[in-house]
Amino acid sequence: MSNFSIDPVVFDALASFKTPEQLGFGRVKSPVMYRANCIDGEWQAGEVGLYAPISVDPAAKVLHYAQEVFEGLKAYRVGERKPNFFRPLKNQQRMAFSARRMVMPEVPPEVFMEGISAITGLSKDLIPVKSGESLYLRPFLIGMTGELGMAPSSEYAFLVIASPSQAYHAGHMKVLIEREGCRAAVGGTGAAKTGGNYAAATLSAKRTQARGYHQSLWLDPVKRENVEELSGMNLFALIDGELHTPELTPTFLEGITRDSVIDLAKHLGHQVVERTIPIEELLQDIRSGRCTEVFACGTAAIISPVSVIADADDTAYELPQVDDLAATLRSRLLDIQERRSEDPFGWVVELEDEYYNLAETNAGAAEAS
Ligand code: COI
Repeated sequence: MSNFSIDPVVFDALASFKTPEQLGFGRVKSPVMYRANCIDGEWQAGEVGLYAPISVDPAAKVLHYAQEVFEGLKAYRVGERKPNFFRPLKNQQRMAFSARRMVMPEVPPEVFMEGISAITGLSKDLIPVKSGESLYLRPFLIGMTGELGMAPSSEYAFLVIASPSQAYHAGHMKVLIEREGCRAAVGGTGAAKTGGNYAAATLSAKRTQARGYHQSLWLDPVKRENVEELSGMNLFALIDGELHTPELTPTFLEGITRDSVIDLAKHLGHQVVERTIPIEELLQDIRSGRCTEVFACGTAAIISPVSVIADADDTAYELPQVDDLAATLRSRLLDIQERRSEDPFGWVVELEDEYYNLAETNAGAAEAS
């Protein structure tokens, strides 16, 4: 049994919460949040309170030196079943990897699971029940020590917030090859899920969107020759009937959806190839008709088809097939995540009863006191 505390004010906030019709992504927030502090390497008991601004020392390391890591995962409740997660320990492991890179303490699996489970259990009535929608969970860890010297923090806060959401990007994406900028450097933090990588991608995203495209396509930062990722999504291309995806490098993020798509596609009988993919070769393969389909995937985005890859001079390489294999993989993946089908991989993790019953158990106690 976990030993976190719940501020009783959250029950009124949850009872009076009205979920808007239009959710979008990450805009609507559950009124509760979880927090556990780590002081000098010791994890303190977790607390659930109201979603509210947090107090941060103006000299905190997170504000000046970006000592921060985060995760994104979802709780599903399609069919109004008991909520479930999808491979949550993969997120915990990736967060531990990111934390090591940023000289931060690893959030232990039990603290990570307690945080996401408490917020999901308390927010269960806010979880959308339409296919493709979910409660997007955002666990994050920040360096709180208020000293301006360049050194790791001694105090950290691990928080979990949640947002009833639709998919991040619905529809076909036009992507623009980023020929100038880099998202991450060799020896840098590209493989860690840390805010600085996303900050570094923002200027490119702004320019890309101003030109009428949806996402920048990042190339390797050394030669600028090989496909790496879209910010926040990994890429797949169907070439000669085989599914190709860039093999992992230390400069881009290992997607959990990427890993799941690889296993799922193999399970469905597809040949999957992880390899270096030179951008010129991919463009040539689109021109010649060998590459018939491209799609991106990520936790927030699920699986999103790409209709056009454009070069810096706006030369457009149109994909003849849009959302064909992508649609099949998306529906098979959602069938597992939303529990309409068998889960041959053991990916689905149901919310434990103690968390499912949190609202009822504690609301009664709060009223009695
Ligand atoms: C996710 O897919 O969970 C992400 O972290 C991407 C984010 C930029 C929306």
